Amino acid sequence: MQFNRVLAVETSCDDTSVAIVRHDGWVEKEFSQNQDQEHKPFGGIVPEVASRNHSLNLLPKIESVFRTTGLTIDGIDGLVVTSRPGLVGSLLVGVVTVKTLALSWNKPFIGVNHLEGHLLAPFLRDEHYAPPDDFSYPYIGLAISGGHTHLYRVEGLGQYHVLGKTRDDAAGEAFDKFAKVLGLGFPGGVQIDRHAQSGNVKAYHFPRSMIKDESFDFSFSGLKASGQRMIEGWSAEDRRENLSDLCASYQQAIVDVLITKLNRAVEETGLDRAILTGGVSANSKLRADAEIWAQQKGVQLVVPPIRYCTDNAAMIGYAGIQRLNMGEQSNQSLGPSPRVAPHDFIEG
Ligand code: KG4
Ligand code: ZN
Repeated sequence: MQFNRVLAVETSCDDTSVAIVRHDGWVEKEFSQNQDQEHKPFGGIVPEVASRNHSLNLLPKIESVFRTTGLTIDGIDGLVVTSRPGLVGSLLVGVVTVKTLALSWNKPFIGVNHLEGHLLAPFLRDEHYAPPDDFSYPYIGLAISGGHTHLYRVEGLGQYHVLGKTRDDAAGEAFDKFAKVLGLGFPGGVQIDRHAQSGNVKAYHFPRSMIKDESFDFSFSGLKASGQRMIEGWSAEDRRENLSDLCASYQQAIVDVLITKLNRAVEETGLDRAILTGGVSANSKLRADAEIWAQQKGVQLVVPPIRYCTDNAAMIGYAGIQRLNMGEQSNQSLGPSPRVAPHDFIEG
């Protein structure tokens, strides 16, 4: 059976997202709703709050994608849902909803790995975005989000070799933590990005852990601690006055490490294509520096638009429809998992 169009659902963390996607990556419609306001008072994501909000938001979003596209249930061939990794209570809402709809609509469905979605996001297309015509496998994938900082060699669908990953905190966590100690609110990455625009990247020195290390692994816990220590004892006025410089210097430490490792991955594998994906790839300095690096290096760098870099159901739908077209399917025993499955990635 050929799957031409699927309904996709993503609820692995705090974004409720629904999309209808075609097998060629065309996004018919995508609706995402973040829960930033709901989690803001707590300074971070509260799992119970996240899953309750998914329960409230998901079905109205599904109705909306059908209504706005004019498609009916007959217009889709199957369903896709993120089933791992993520917050179990959040994943559960998506998985149970998709299994129920698949049963009552009598459609095939599949649960996919959230990170596979991020790694395939460059293949999405819509009125405003399409990958370069000659973009294809293999490529280096740098997946950077609130929970992940992973470097992959992407050989093809389902062939994701892990080159390296963070040994402690993710890059997004380092952004969010520093924003929190600076009192910038949640989520912090975008606030640091904004304040850094007018700051001096050399004003303060922050550590670039493991930058010289031979491995492709990352470590951001030292940076996180150093950010906290740096401003300990500062008055509110000092923090305010130096905010732009602090943000710019801290952000640059993260960007330098990410680009150095990306460069090493390209050199060691000999690949000349790379992608950035995950929420942190929305960072404007990272995008700018990576673009300069790619041009100097002669690397084809593809960075999807921000709506496809942050958590979204379109990338999940694309990953799922490829797998459905390869004959894979899930059954009603599918459950959410906080971890990746053993077959999801190839080590090394
Ligand atoms: O992929 P994502 O939307 O959700 C996860 O799967 O984690 O990534 C969220 C992360 C958060 O840590 C957020 O602060 C960070 O992406 N982020 C940014 C920017 N926009 C979002 N970090 C740096 N600069 C940004 N502009
Ligand atoms: Zn994500």
